[in-house]
Order: sequence, then C-alpha cells, then structure tokens
Amino acid sequence: MCGIVGAVAQRDIVGVLTEGLRRLEYRGYDSCGVAVLQHGAPRRVRSIERVANLAEQVEDARLSGTIGVAHTRWATHGAPITDNAHPIFSRDEIALVHNGIIENHEPLRDELKALGYAFESDTDTEVIAHLIHHTREEDASRDLLTAVQRALQRLRGAYAIAVFAKSEPDRVIGARAGSPLVVGMGERGNYLASDAMALSGTAEHFIFLEEGDIAVLSCNGVHIVDRDGATAHREVQAQHANHYATELGPYRHYMQKEIFEQPDVVADATERVRSITPALFGAKAQRAFSEIDSLLLLACGTSYYSALTAKYWFESIAGIPTQVEIASEYRYRESVVNPCAMVVVVSQSGETADTLAALKHAQEIGHHHTLAICNVPHSSMMRLTELHYSTGAGPEIGVASTKAFTTQLVALFVLALTLGKERGRVSTDDEAHALRQLHHLPAALNSVLALEPQIVAWAQALARKDHALFLGRGVHYPIALEGALKLKEISYVHAEAYPAGELKHGPLAIVTNEMPVITIAPNDTLLEKLKSNMQEVRARGGQLYVLADAGTKIESSDGVRVIQLPGHYGPLSPILHVVPLQLLAYHTACVRGTDVDKPRNLAKSVTVE
Ligand code: M6R
Repeated sequence: MCGIVGAVAQRDIVGVLTEGLRRLEYRGYDSCGVAVLQHGAPRRVRSIERVANLAEQVEDARLSGTIGVAHTRWATHGAPITDNAHPIFSRDEIALVHNGIIENHEPLRDELKALGYAFESDTDTEVIAHLIHHTREEDASRDLLTAVQRALQRLRGAYAIAVFAKSEPDRVIGARAGSPLVVGMGERGNYLASDAMALSGTAEHFIFLEEGDIAVLSCNGVHIVDRDGATAHREVQAQHANHYATELGPYRHYMQKEIFEQPDVVADATERVRSITPALFGAKAQRAFSEIDSLLLLACGTSYYSALTAKYWFESIAGIPTQVEIASEYRYRESVVNPCAMVVVVSQSGETADTLAALKHAQEIGHHHTLAICNVPHSSMMRLTELHYSTGAGPEIGVASTKAFTTQLVALFVLALTLGKERGRVSTDDEAHALRQLHHLPAALNSVLALEPQIVAWAQALARKDHALFLGRGVHYPIALEGALKLKEISYVHAEAYPAGELKHGPLAIVTNEMPVITIAPNDTLLEKLKSNMQEVRARGGQLYVLADAGTKIESSDGVRVIQLPGHYGPLSPILHVVPLQLLAYHTACVRGTDVDKPRNLAKSVTVE
C-alpha cells in the first residue's frame, strides 16, 4: 500500500528518495513520484510505471535538492494516472504525499473550491494540500507547522503525510494518525518513511511516531509535538541488525527466497523458547493469563488462517474456548463482550487497518487483556496491546505471506502450550516432548522443501487449469484455506477450500475430470474419513493431488497423484503441510508468468480499509 519517504539533508537527497521508494515497492503500488525544492521552487516527476522508470525520469529531468518528499501510491480515490500520483502540489507552494484515506474529503473539497482552489486530481489527498495552503495563508505567521496542525484538526480518517513548503526551504514535516510513519536520523540529515527498511543504510537511529504526532525535521534536528501541540520526547531506537537480507541473492523471487528461509526463521523462533513460560509474552502475561477464561482472535487474510489453525490447538491443548473472527467483520458488528476474553491480534505487519481498528474497537467495548502476535516489532499493534510476541521472521517482501505464516503458527503453538501449562493441562513431560518437536521443526521443514521437484511437476499441470479445489480436515482445514488463498493470490487460478466432509453438501457438483482437487492427507485420526471423501471425488472423475504423510498407504494411481511427506508430525503437522502448498502456488504462478512478488491489485500491507 502507499509508501512515503521524506528527507532534509546537507546534500542532494534525490538518491535517498528513489532508493527509499525502491525499498517500499514490496508494499504494492500503481504509481509513484518524487518532489524536491530546486532553485527555490517545488519540482516533481511522477510515473505510472515502476520506481526504476521513475528513477530514470528523475535523472533525465536533473532533479536535485536538499529537501524533498516521495511516494508510491496504491490507488483508492481516483484511477492510477499521473495526475493522481503524489506528490500533490497546492499553488506551487506546498508539496505533499499522503498514505491513508480522508473520509470527509468531499465537503472539504467543496469548501476549498468555493475559496478558489482548482483541483487537478481526483484524490482525497489534494484536499490536505490545499487545506494546509489555505490555513497558512490565513495565519499572519505563515508558519508551516501551525498550518499543518490546524489543517489536520479538520481531517477525519487515517493518514500519514510528509510535506514541505517553498517558503520554508529548510524543513520537512511529517504527521501520523492511523497510518505508520517513522523518523530516521542520520549523520548528514533527517528522514521520514512509512517503514524503517526504506531508510536502512541512510539513517542510524529511528523514532516510531505515536498516533497524533507531528515531526518537524531540519538538518539540525527533529522536533516532535503530540496531538495537543506539546513537545513530545519519543524513544530513539538504534537500527536493528537483521541477518535476513532484503536482497534477493540467488533467488528468482522474494516469495521463493522467503519460502526457503523458513527452516532458518523457524529455527530462530523456536531457539528462544527453551521453556514454556508466560514471560515469553511480556512482563504482565502471568497475571493476565490467570484472569482470562477464553480467547478472541482477530486477523485478516493469511494471518486469519493461522489464527484459525491455532483455535484447534487452544481448545485441544489448553482447553480454552476460542473464537476466531475476521477483523473487518468484527469491527462493525454488535458483539457480546466477555471482559474475561483475551483479544489476540495476529498480523505480519502490525499495521493492517482492519485488524488495528478491530483491536481498538475491542478495547473500546471493554476488553482489557490484549496480545499482539506480529512480525514487525515496533508496529502499531505491538504498541497498542498489553502483551506482545514478536514472531521474528525478518522482513517479508513478497506480497504473498509465507515465512510470516509459519512463524505465527510457532508463536500461537507456544501460546497454546503456555496457556495449557498455566491451566494444569500440560505436564512437564508434555512440555519436554513439545519442545523437542518444536526444535526439530527446521529439519522437518528442510525435508519438505526437498520435495520441490515433484511439486514443480504438479504446477505444470495446475497452471493449465482455471479452477482448483483444496480439501483438508480438522486442523488442516485452515491449511487448505491458506493453500487456496496462495494459489489465487499469485497465479490467479480460482481456488476454493473446503473441509473434506463438506464436499457432498454442495461443492461436489463442480467436480468433473477437469477439476484438480488438492488434498491434505496427514496420518491422523481423520485419515479414514478423508479417504472416503477422496473416493467421492474420484467417483466423479476429479483429479486428486494428494499430500500424504508416510504411512497413510495412499498410492498414486489413475487420477491420483501423490507426493509423500515424512511421517506424521503430530499437532505441528500444519506447519509442514503448508509448505508444499506455498511451493505449488509459487511454481504455478511462475509457469503462468505472473508478477509473483507483486500480484495485480494487491498490496503487502493493507493500511486502508
Ligand atoms: O500484515 P497482516 O498479516 O495483518 O496482513 C493480513 C493480510 O493482508 C495478508 O495476510 C494477506 O492476506 C497476504 N497477502 C496473504 O498472502
């Protein structure tokens, strides 16, 4: 989704802006642009192509300057055309970039038009630029900070902005409310970005702005005011060394790289769990866990599927009633509040607008105990919750979530064990056994990744299809859902997932000899039931692609292709079974020639509703 970079330095900052945008590309965008103050006037270059193309145009235009703002736009209001690309100007005085949605843009637009402002774009953003311009004109001091403060008070919705004014050539102002914004401090300048990764190598220290903060950046320093206009002192954090490189290395795509990183990230995630203790979730966890009687998990997309998987663990291992809900549904419905239910938000980014809003809604209606399970340590969700657990997968660049999912599952499994132990349902022996299983997971993942050549063969066949069905039962049903989402998302093959027992209640009608039916077949207590469901598919000519654990005695035959996994891995089996499905989606997309890391219409971090 939209990405912001801003800079003020004692040197030309154009390279910092374009490199920052390049690093934000993974968020998804359909246009981009850069504006700098050059020879006393704002100049901009905008493009509806990729950042690499923008960088060439910037060079051709000989853009240079010591202050500037830049943006990748994921269209919401107005088509992805050059006129709607940011930076947006107001009367050649104000240059502004924006992430988020301004809900009251229509009345503001009418008001500004009546004041004589001509609108050149269809964006809600243009309203902010003109409003700042107008507010500044009205104020005798013509101070940009005052104008930004006053203008922002009139906005409803979510935003992060970066703005500069022609007549204040030494500062860039950033503000956030509902969308992330980080300040980066370097030796020769200060910077703004939607994501610290955009400034890696440029800034050494970071301040993660709080809701309502406005940051004034000059070469000499950073001044932050809070939503009440008071000077705010925010924690300065050193850049976190991350050994998961953000470069592609030998891989063709980030998604492929991230799939193959899973043994390492899972090793890191399990390594730090030497014993099962509430302290893993924060200092307040012990007390909080003793006060709750149920869980309410809120998430979107792939994170929702990890939460759904974990429901099976929470109920079977910890015996704690668990409800899992799609965040965008929960936030708008009238729910019955159980103040003893702990709200658990699960998110890779920690910034997903729907999950964030669902969390705030839960807090407003009376949920006291909250836990965030996130991959981004300083994200909004991590800062808004009582308890936190960082999944530690490192940067995930591919839009399709892979390693974030498996590490979420590890975190949720550890939570299930912790709650089970606290509730007297996990014995010392159980704990030791579970820890052994967790610590052996990286080796097990490696043996599943070794199946790639067989999956490539399946992908060749699947790439010629328009539809696919995914089947699973029990704790593997959410894994079937995740497999179908992965396939849709990056290969554009229409896919649906069903609990295998549900097939005969409707979906069997679409099974013909043209329909691939990808089936997850762990060697668990539901195996014989699943085998019957597979017979139902074969009897209608359906083409079975079965991921079978060793020992299931499911063999390849006419219309039945089998890839054999290692022996059944107990409750952690979903973490192994999802990997071939990730590879299947990946290779199908490669055969179909889609843009794997940046699938059409999608963004990595969905920071608007
Ligand atoms: O950052 P989050 O985990 O909150 O994101 C939630 C979804 O947008 C995300 O999982 C999405 O479904 C992925 N693109 C799926 O691969």
